Amino acid sequence: MRLLEVGNVSKSFGNLHALDGVTLDVESKTLTILIGPNGSGKTTLINVISGFYRPDEGNVMFQGRQITGLPPHKIYKLGIARTFQIPTLFWKLTVLENLLVAEKNNPGESFLRSLLKRSWENSEGSAAGKAFKILELVGLSAVWDKPAYNLSGGQMKLLEIARCLMTDAKLLLLDEPISGVNPTLAHEIFSRLIKLRDELGITFFVVEHRLDIALSYVDHIIAMALGNVIASGQPEQVINDPKVIEAYLGG
Ligand SMILES: Nc1ncnc2c1ncn2[C@@H]1O[C@H](COP(=O)(O)OP(=O)(O)O)[C@@H](O)[C@H]1O
Ligand SMILES: [Mg+2]
Repeated sequence: MRLLEVGNVSKSFGNLHALDGVTLDVESKTLTILIGPNGSGKTTLINVISGFYRPDEGNVMFQGRQITGLPPHKIYKLGIARTFQIPTLFWKLTVLENLLVAEKNNPGESFLRSLLKRSWENSEGSAAGKAFKILELVGLSAVWDKPAYNLSGGQMKLLEIARCLMTDAKLLLLDEPISGVNPTLAHEIFSRLIKLRDELGITFFVVEHRLDIALSYVDHIIAMALGNVIASGQPEQVINDPKVIEAYLGG
């Protein structure tokens, strides 16, 4: 099933065509990564999908529903959560508190709750019980009472992902979730994403150019260059595509 459909989306900043007619689909319950040289439009696309930028043209559909031009909080309520290239956490709050703050804005949809009904019930469905379950899933339960500023770079990325899960999102848009993270933790982050995909049925659309790490985990790769999609398909097929190789070598 197609969870996300991006059709002919364009976005310019003055004379610069950051997105120039982008069309792509993201299948439900996959880990899809978006690659491309710096400046190819990846973050701009995440901003359009999540409602931070309004596209000049084209449309975005989520679960078959038109979401083009909706403001970020409406898109978030429909079940799309995102992280940023630079983590945005509440630095003085603890790990647990960072999750509880996200729960306050809970859209009220009970996707995760229904999937993990038994475990939520054991903790009487409380927000804290849900938060602890999520911290276990992402591997942060041992640091639940540490302030966010005390975490390693990789743990900050995991906390951002955990916060997305608190909102019961179905689609997570992650912008470079392993940038600046050491290889061991980077592999752990991708293994966690796979687990979340399999256990909770979450769909991931991830901007990531560290293919050496990401490649063995991904279901599908979409490659962009200069605001366009230049290849899309199975990982092996995309990384061997001459257009992709040229975009990287030429860029
Ligand atoms: N808010 C903005 N204002 C002006 N130019 C922007 C803005 N956001 C992105 N751009 C430009 O759009 C192009 C694509 O940027 P971006 O989407 O951040 O690329 P990527 O994430 O693939 O590195 C770049 O040339 C960038 O400088
Ligand atoms: Mg970017």
